[in-house]
Formats: sequence, structure tokens, C-alpha cells
Amino acid sequence: MTRTLNVHLLPAMFEPEALRDGIAVVIDVLRASTTMTLALQNGAAGIIPCGSIEEANSAFERSPDTVLRGGERGGVKIDGFELSNSPDDYSPNVVDGRTIAFTTTNGTRALLRCGIAERILVGSFVNLSGVVNELAGCCNPIHLVCAGTNGAVTNEDVLFAGCIVQRLTGCVDIPDVDESRWELSDSSLLALCAWLQMTREMTLPEALLRSKGARNLMALGYDRDIQTAGMIDLCSIVGIFDGNTKRITASPAAARESG
Ligand code: MLT
Repeated sequence: MTRTLNVHLLPAMFEPEALRDGIAVVIDVLRASTTMTLALQNGAAGIIPCGSIEEANSAFERSPDTVLRGGERGGVKIDGFELSNSPDDYSPNVVDGRTIAFTTTNGTRALLRCGIAERILVGSFVNLSGVVNELAGCCNPIHLVCAGTNGAVTNEDVLFAGCIVQRLTGCVDIPDVDESRWELSDSSLLALCAWLQMTREMTLPEALLRSKGARNLMALGYDRDIQTAGMIDLCSIVGIFDGNTKRITASPAAARESG
């Protein structure tokens, strides 16, 4: 059986309806999907992706004892919020057992655009193998959705999409694609090319520094976040968005430290 694999270089490049029956991976390597994954790995009970600051404030006001507000606008913490969009803010002692009402400029919006998909995963290099295992274990069409930055394609998101294409297909070169097993969109081939080319020329941490998003983060003093985003398989969990509860939870549930 041939399996379809699509890469969407930007959320605006697909109609939400195209994701029906599919499994979607939302990708915002710098930093929303990396930060959400770390929050869940560190014991957050769940994440409520919010399309606006007002929505996050409402979630907080409904349950101020259990909810923390996290996210960014212009890369920096939102006034009144407890947490920024830096993974460093989401340590176990801060997030364990708490629900995060989370809003970012691109990542959470990309996720909400995927709502119609049958299954929605949050993907980043820190949970690469978990995401690949989830995708390999089902047969729905795959949609890798790059969040981009303010409507522009971002290098790091496309590289991660290409890395997933490579892991799933096992290709070490473009002519290796087994067309009896995989139907790759042209943008999937582009992402795969970008990933293969990168691995020949530089390391992932070097590649992650070469993007506008990384330059913005460095200008704001968030250099460490770029390093964190490049730590392949730092986390064992995958965040899964449930369209009914409108929450992202960890699969498998993160093991909490006792004591
Ligand atoms: C976003 O969702 O726009 C990004 O995660 C921005 C950031 O790195 O703070």
C-alpha cells in the first residue's frame, strides 16, 4: 500500500479540510513545539493552545490555582503571564501537575489550523523518535505542518520535516524513494533534499543558527533555547492534541519524579 506524505511549508499553504482523516504533526522548532514538548515531559498535566492572549487569560481566570499562562509576542513574555516561550521556564518544579494556557505568534495558531485532522502531534527535534514511531504505527495520510514565522518559511521547521521524511522512508538519497510505498508531495521532496544537504555540510546545532528565527532569539538573549531545540530525543513523550477537550497531553504520560 502506498502512503501519502505531505509537507506544508506554511499553515496558509493548505486548506484545513485537506487534513481530514490525516495525522498531522505541528512543527515550530524555534520554539513553540520544543517548549510544549518539554513542558509535558517535565510533568505539565496538559496544554491549552490559545489563539489569543484573551483566551489564555480566560483559561487562567477559570482555574487560577492550577493554570499557568505561557507564551510570547515578539519573542518575549506577555505582560501578566507567568511563563515566556523559553523551554527554560518550564522546569519540573514549575510545571508539574499544572495546566499551561499557551499562546504564541505562529506555533499555537498553526496547531489550531490543524483541528480537523484525525490525530494531531506536536513535533520537534527533542521528541523526534517518538513522533516517527507514532507516524510509523498508523496508516493515515501524513501532514507535516511547518509553522513558519509571520507567513515566511523557516529553515529549522523545513529541516525537521525533512528529517522525518528521511526517517520514515529510510532514504539516504532522493532516487532511493520507494514509490511503491511512499507518495511524497513535491514539498516533501524539497524538505528531504534540504535535510540531506544539511547533514552533509554541517551539524544540526550549526544549521539551527542559520535562520531568521534564531537571529531574533539571539538578539533577545535566548541563545540557550536554540541549543535546547537541537537536542535530538531529549524527551520520550509526544504531545497529542485532543480536538474534543482542546488540550494537548503527553503520550505516554510523563513519569513524575516522586518525593
Ligand atoms: C512562535 O510560535 O511564533 C514561536 O515559537 C516564536 C518564539 O520563538 O518565541
